[in-house]
Amino acid sequence: MMNIRILGIESSCDETAAAIVADGREILSSVVASQIDIHRKYGGVVPELASREHLRRIVPVVREALEIAKMNLQDVDAIGVTQGPGLVGSLLVGITYGKTLADSLGKPLVPVNHLEGHIHAVFLEAHKAGISLVLPAVCLIVSGGHTVLYEVKPKEAARTDAGALWSYRRIGQTRDDAAGEAYDKVSKLLGFGYPGGPILDRLAAAAGNSLAPVKFGPTKMKGNSHDFSFSGLKTAVLYHLRENRDYQPEIEAREAALARGERKFDQLLPLCSSKTLGLIREFQNAVVRELVERSLSSAEELGVPTVLISGGVAANRQLRATFEERAKRSGLDVYFPSLALSTDNAAMIAAAAYPRLQNNILADGSLNASASLPIA
Ligand code: KG4
Ligand code: ZN
Repeated sequence: MMNIRILGIESSCDETAAAIVADGREILSSVVASQIDIHRKYGGVVPELASREHLRRIVPVVREALEIAKMNLQDVDAIGVTQGPGLVGSLLVGITYGKTLADSLGKPLVPVNHLEGHIHAVFLEAHKAGISLVLPAVCLIVSGGHTVLYEVKPKEAARTDAGALWSYRRIGQTRDDAAGEAYDKVSKLLGFGYPGGPILDRLAAAAGNSLAPVKFGPTKMKGNSHDFSFSGLKTAVLYHLRENRDYQPEIEAREAALARGERKFDQLLPLCSSKTLGLIREFQNAVVRELVERSLSSAEELGVPTVLISGGVAANRQLRATFEERAKRSGLDVYFPSLALSTDNAAMIAAAAYPRLQNNILADGSLNASASLPIA
């Protein structure tokens, strides 16, 4: 049978991305244009700037994805586009472009949920490694916008192929900040700028035996014990900094370094006291502990053998190592996408579009952006 080649388009937040994926599994190209340099000076994503930048980048990004896959637009069998959740203005750029392409080429348009895309990213990765993942699984999606746990099953128990639809049940979610948001806010408090995850990840690893100047215990959750909460942790860091004014000079020194464009790890590390490094490591320990313990305990409770982790924070090295080590002890299998497939990309959107195309779940010209599209 001929391959079904889907063009995926992603523009829900601050990356403009396009990719070609064959039969829901084989990545022929994946192009991501990040806007981090634009949003950095504002300390976070500015929605108006994001949509303007998507508008500027979408055409060249799609063209590049086609070139890398050695294809013309006419060779595309369908177009998968992120419908939500995300920033409405940003989503609309991808949706409008997707609609126009589908209409002019006479090809089907497939609406995709961004979170479902993140789950498919793990399957794309497993396929690359020649591993076939077994459902049901517990899936943790952990990014700057989301921290949520799902149980994922095939809709029809007998179907395990790439064209099978899945069903989702939400087991838990954050009640306040997403984990990536906590990284970004703590990073800002400490003078490391935006985004916070990658730099704090590296600094925590460089902390060595620096003593933790404060201890953050496990977060107690009333009600659903699979829910998360990260705003208390961020507030605890804030209070700790307020009570200990001696952090102030180094925070200002780092802010001055950032203003000069010096934001690399090697440039910032010398501006960190051992106390700061100990604090960062303690913060990361707390985030990782919450994510790992709640995910694994829900898998154990449900009797599900597989745990999938996806989203920007899944790039965190300590999170990966701790998941792997803890899962081994519990006899669970854990899977992550590669770093490139962890953060927002369009290959995961094209992959998620494939089973929907196979099952004729298509959109027409009335497709609209949905800021808080539910996954099921
Ligand atoms: O999935 P993503 O690219 O975009 C969203 O949908 O949010 O995730 C971005 C988030 C940011 O909050 C960033 O600080 C965080 O992921 N992040 C990390 C790491 N790399 C990115 N957090 C912790 N450790 C990392 N290595
Ligand atoms: Zn995302």
